[in-house]
Amino acid sequence: MATRSVVLGLSLVVAAAGAFSNGACSNEVVVVTPPPAEPEGTSVDLPDVPVAGIGEELERQFTEGDGLFDLPLRVADGLGPLYTQDHCSGCHKSAGRGPGLVQKMSVVGTDGAPVADQSKLPYGDTVHPLLAGGGKTPIAAPDGDPSIRVTTRLGPPVLGRGYMEAVADAEILRVEAEQAKRSDGIRGRVNWVVYASEANEDTSFHTHKKGDRVIGRFGLKARVATLDDFTADAFQGDMGITSPLRPSEFANPDGLTDDGKPGVDVSFGSVNKRAMYSRLLAIPKRRPTTGIASSVPPAKLFENAQCASCHVPTLRTRADYPITVLANVDAAVYTDFLLHDMGPDLADAARPGSDGTASYREWRTAPLIGLRFNRSYMHDGRAKTIREAIISHRGQGSQANGSVNLYQSFSTDDQQALEAYVLSL
Ligand code: HEC
Ligand code: HEC
Repeated sequence: MATRSVVLGLSLVVAAAGAFSNGACSNEVVVVTPPPAEPEGTSVDLPDVPVAGIGEELERQFTEGDGLFDLPLRVADGLGPLYTQDHCSGCHKSAGRGPGLVQKMSVVGTDGAPVADQSKLPYGDTVHPLLAGGGKTPIAAPDGDPSIRVTTRLGPPVLGRGYMEAVADAEILRVEAEQAKRSDGIRGRVNWVVYASEANEDTSFHTHKKGDRVIGRFGLKARVATLDDFTADAFQGDMGITSPLRPSEFANPDGLTDDGKPGVDVSFGSVNKRAMYSRLLAIPKRRPTTGIASSVPPAKLFENAQCASCHVPTLRTRADYPITVLANVDAAVYTDFLLHDMGPDLADAARPGSDGTASYREWRTAPLIGLRFNRSYMHDGRAKTIREAIISHRGQGSQANGSVNLYQSFSTDDQQALEAYVLSL
C-alpha cells in the first residue's frame, strides 16, 4: 500500500495550495481585476502580458484566458478523484515557473536506469498527492523501496508559447538534419509522438486526430505537439479534469472512473480559452545588458560556446498560423525543440514511453525565454544561477560537454557577459 512519506517534503507545497479547493462550484465565472499599478521606476518588464498588436478581440480573449488560468476548480467542476493542483497558475504563477511541481517515479536498476518491469507502479509514473470528488487513495511512491526513484519537474513558464506552436515543422526538421552532420556530439532528434487527444472542434490551429504521428514541442521532453492538447493533458493529468479532448480519468488505486461531477467535466471552450491565453503570451522584452566588461558581443559569446547550436536563437514560423502577428516571423525561441542526451545526472524518473520516444536521459533544449523571472533553472530547479545551470549541462555522455568546456575556457569577464546575456533574453 502506498504511503506519502517519501514524497512528503515536496508535496507540502502542493498540498498547502490545494487545501481550500473542495468547496462550492465556481462555474468558471471569471472576475477580471485590473493588474496592480507598477511600482515607480520599473519599465514594462512584466512576464504576463500579451503579444503587441493583436487587436482588441484577441486582447479580450487573452484577458479571459488569463482569468481562467488562475481560477481554482472545485469538486462541482469535476476536480479529482486525484489531483496535484486545482488551477493552472498553481504551477505557472504569472505564466512563469512554479511554484507547484510534479513528481515522477520509476522502478530503476542498480545503474539508475528504468527497468522494463514497472509493475510495482501500476498507476503510472506520476505522483498525485491530493484527493477530491470521491478519491480515497493518493498515488505516491511506495515507502522505503530503494528500487523506486522519485524526481521532480517544475512547471516551466508558458511565455511565448504561441510562437513555439507557430514554428514551422520544416524548421525543426532542418535543424535536426544540420545537427546530424556535426561531429562534435551535438545531435538532437525530433520526439515523434502519437497525438493523444480526441479531435478538437476548433480546427483553426490544426486538424490532428488521435493517433496521428506529430512532432512533439511542448513539455520538458517535447512530448506534446499543440497547446490545446497540452491544456487538455494538464487538465486531465494535473487536475483530474476531463474534457472532450481527454474524456477519461487517469487510472487510480480506487478504480474510480468519475468524480463529483458526472461525465465529462469541462467543455472544448474551457480548454481552448486557456490554450489561447498561452498562445497570446508575449516573449518578454529583452532587457539591455549594461556594465559588461567583455569586448566580444554577448550574442557572439553565446555562439562561440555552442549554446546557439541547441538554443537556436530564432526559427521561422509558418505563414498560415492563425494569429497573424505570429505568422511568418523569426521567433526568438532559443530552442531547437530537439531531444538531447544530457547524461545520467540530469536524468529523471519517468516510465519508458510516457514522454513519447524520449528516454530518461533526454530533454528538450529549454527555450531561453524570460529566464530573469525564474528563481531557479533546469527542469527541477537544481541550479540557482545561470552559471550553475551551464555547469549542470555536464555529465557522462552529455551532448553539451563540449559547450561547457568552451564556456569554462572563457575569461571571467566573458563568462559573466554570457550569463548576463542569457538573463536578458
Ligand atoms: C501540478 C502542477 C501543474 C499544473 C496544475 C499545471 N501544469 Fe502545466 N506544466 C507542469 C509541468 C511539470 C510541466 C512540464 C511537464 C512535462 O514535461 O511533462 C508543464 C508544462 C506545461 C506546458 C508546456 C510548456 C512548455 O515549455 O512546453 C503548458 C503549455 C502548460 N503546462 C499549461 C498548463 C495549463 C493550461 C494548465 C491548467 C489547465 C496547467 N499547465 C496546469 C505543471 C503543471
Ligand atoms: C546539447 C544541447 C545544449 C547545449 C550545447 C547547451 N544547452 Fe542549455 N539546455 C539544454 C537542455 C536539453 C536543457 C534542459 C535540461 C534540463 O532542464 O534538465 C538546457 C537548459 C538550459 C538552461 C536552463 C533553462 C531553464 O528553463 O531552466 C540554461 C540557462 C541554459 N541551458 C543555457 C545554456 C548556455 C548558456 C549554453 C552554452 C554555454 C547552453 N545552454 C548549451 C541543451 C543545451
